[in-house]
Amino acid sequence: MTKAKNDKAAIQPGQSIRRELTVGEVAERCDVAVSALHFYESKGLISSWRTSGNQRRYSRDVLRRVAIIKVAQSTGIPLAEIRQALATLPNGRTPTAKDWAKLSAGWREDLDQRIRQLTQLRDRLEGCIGCGCLSMDNCPLRNPGDQAAEQGRGALYLSED
Ligand code: FES
Repeated sequence: MTKAKNDKAAIQPGQSIRRELTVGEVAERCDVAVSALHFYESKGLISSWRTSGNQRRYSRDVLRRVAIIKVAQSTGIPLAEIRQALATLPNGRTPTAKDWAKLSAGWREDLDQRIRQLTQLRDRLEGCIGCGCLSMDNCPLRNPGDQAAEQGRGALYLSED
C-alpha cells in the first residue's frame, strides 16, 4: 500500500473507529483482490455477514487473518492447513502476536520437512542431469530408494489386465 493510501486510511483525532468493513475496504487495506477475499471465504478461511441490502461486511479481525493467510501462502502452506490453524482461534477476535507465534511454530516444522524432501529430490536430480535414461533400475528419480527391489523380482508394475 502506498503512503498516500496509508494517510487516507489513517484515523483522524476525534474520529471513531467503525467496527465493520466492506469487502472493498478489506481488499484495499490488505492489498488483495476482492475475488481473493471471496475465494478465502468460500474456503472457510474468513467469514462475513450480509447487510439487509445483501452486501458483505467483515469484522476488523479479518485484516490480521488475511495477513496471516498471505504470509502462510507465501511459504507454501496449503489452504486446508491454514483453515485448520485459523479455526483454532476464537471467532471474531483479532489474532494476537502470541497466536501468530503459535501458528508459525507449527508451520515451521512443515517447512523444515518440505525443505528436507526438496533437498533430497535435488540431490537425486543431480545424477540425472545430462543422463536421460529414466531407467527403473538405475534412476533415483524413477525408483527412489529402489522400492521395486524390496517388493521382489520381475515386472512388478505391469497389470494383469
Ligand atoms: S535419468 Fe538416468 S539416472 Fe536418472
